[in-house]
Amino acid sequence: MGGMDRRELKVGIAGCGTIGRKVASELDCGFVPGARLGGISSRNLARARRFASNLNCCPPVVGLERLVEMVDLVVEAAPASAFDSIAKPTLGAGKDIMVLSGGALLDRDDLFALAERTGATIYVPSGAIAGLDGVAGAAAGRIDSITMITRKPPSGLRGAPGVEKAGIDLDALTEPTVVFEGPAIEACMLFPANVNVSAALSMAGVGPTLTRIRIYADPTVDRNTHDIVVEGEFGRLSIRIENVPSAANPRTGVLSALSALAALRRITSHVRVGT
Ligand SMILES: NC(=O)c1ccc[n+]([C@@H]2O[C@H](COP(=O)([O-])OP(=O)(O)OC[C@H]3O[C@@H](n4cnc5c(N)ncnc54)[C@H](O)[C@@H]3O)[C@@H](O)[C@H]2O)c1
Repeated sequence: MGGMDRRELKVGIAGCGTIGRKVASELDCGFVPGARLGGISSRNLARARRFASNLNCCPPVVGLERLVEMVDLVVEAAPASAFDSIAKPTLGAGKDIMVLSGGALLDRDDLFALAERTGATIYVPSGAIAGLDGVAGAAAGRIDSITMITRKPPSGLRGAPGVEKAGIDLDALTEPTVVFEGPAIEACMLFPANVNVSAALSMAGVGPTLTRIRIYADPTVDRNTHDIVVEGEFGRLSIRIENVPSAANPRTGVLSALSALAALRRITSHVRVGT
């Protein structure tokens, strides 16, 4: 499209929760020049309509298939369990998708092939971590190891199948306790709502089998913290982030929605900063 005027990017929101609402509200306020909110879909359409009625642009609230027809790009911000029902029709129609439930995208060669066939693009924003530019750069050369240590307040891990599997009583913890140690691919299956960052890290680096993660339920922290160390021919990269939990969903850091907004800005902007 070089030299031509770009037309406005119509963005749809699939999943009108903590991240979806923030992204919708900021789009509505014009935070992403060159993009506008084209519609919203969610499990509970009546609730989404109540939310949408308070926005300036009064976006249509519709079922997913209709949303896909109406927009150029769908921001997937629903639970991981709903991922396929959003990603398949979106990519099948040749529309782009921005994936927040990154763990559900791991090893999905079928979806990558579908995107290639229909000419769609899958965007995976950094979400609740930083430093993926450095990881991607390092991965253009030899990487020896990528490890991530995650600490979460025990309440943020409630309901995860991995906690049950580890046989841990979250309410009884008085000190940091390891609830998982192993490859990111397994972590994303056992903690589908908690470690999407390890999926983005895997995809930027050496894949979900070689990326190792240790997860602590830690009653001494009130922020979700991630410490990542990458070693390779380039040297050593350490990344540390302390995420403030969202008020509406303590499992989701405030940075997640902000990252999606920055990623949208990157798509529509004529100036791109970073790797
Ligand atoms: N990539 C990251 O760094 C990162 C960070 C935080 C959260 N996440 C993930 O992003 C996703 C959204 O997080 P959130 O905090 O906004 O969740 P949330 O629970 O606050 O909101 C999810 C919304 O999706 C809706 N929904 C449920 N089933 C649906 C379906 N079948 N179709 C459409 N909508 C449906 C729910 O009604 C709700 O409104 C989750 O998978 C979460 O794990 C990723």
